[in-house]
Amino acid sequence: MNLIKVKDYEELSRAVADLIYMEVNNNPECVLGLATGSTPIGAYKCIIEDYNAGEIDFSDVTTVNLDEYVGLSPENPQSYRYFMDENFFNHINIDKSRTHLPDGMAQDPDAEAERYEELIEELDGIDLLLLGMGHNGHIGFNEPDEEFVANTRRVYLAEQTLKANSRFFDSTEQVPESAITMGIKTIMSAREIILAVSGNDKANMLKKALFGPITPRVPASVLQLHNGLTVITDCLE
Ligand code: GLP
Repeated sequence: MNLIKVKDYEELSRAVADLIYMEVNNNPECVLGLATGSTPIGAYKCIIEDYNAGEIDFSDVTTVNLDEYVGLSPENPQSYRYFMDENFFNHINIDKSRTHLPDGMAQDPDAEAERYEELIEELDGIDLLLLGMGHNGHIGFNEPDEEFVANTRRVYLAEQTLKANSRFFDSTEQVPESAITMGIKTIMSAREIILAVSGNDKANMLKKALFGPITPRVPASVLQLHNGLTVITDCLE
């Protein structure tokens, strides 16, 4: 594991952006796996600045996002599609038809999850995957569980996640109860992974994830087994 400890959120954002910058410049046709949540917003801003400075070209890049809420349309400001467009895709020269998220409006979320898994296979997998981590150690929407679940699928969100994510909604009741998420195998198949974790309130969970036992009770702990893991954090001494 490559552990990069940074001083604050600003440094974290720049460090994450630098790794994405290098990937895209070394491999202009790369497949990037992308995350939502508050953590990556600063990194997306930095990359947009690089793009505006003429230093990075997304015309041949493909992206696949980790997850999407079931029942939210792309026009819904709380959907992850809307988030990605607003915070990233609308500001760079990426071909929107190459930006993929699970379809939250699919009639059959299980079939949609299967389609998404197949799409990632057809793309020959993910070159670089950016992950955040939930307060309970979740990655994507792989919540603490009795076992690791391999494939992309529909999941029901943990109580703690519903509460944590309610900050983006008017109330907890409005947070969709389920989502489609990449599974643990899908995540672990990425050739390189960046785990970005910010804020002291996540320090204990991050320590467990990186240095504790590998257990589905702490989903991020599985990343200890990945050979191409870079952790960027401002919450470890
Ligand atoms: C959500 C997303 C995760 C993200 C997590 C942490 O639940 N599904 O992919 O990593 O929140 O979000 P934040 O960065 O806002 O703490």
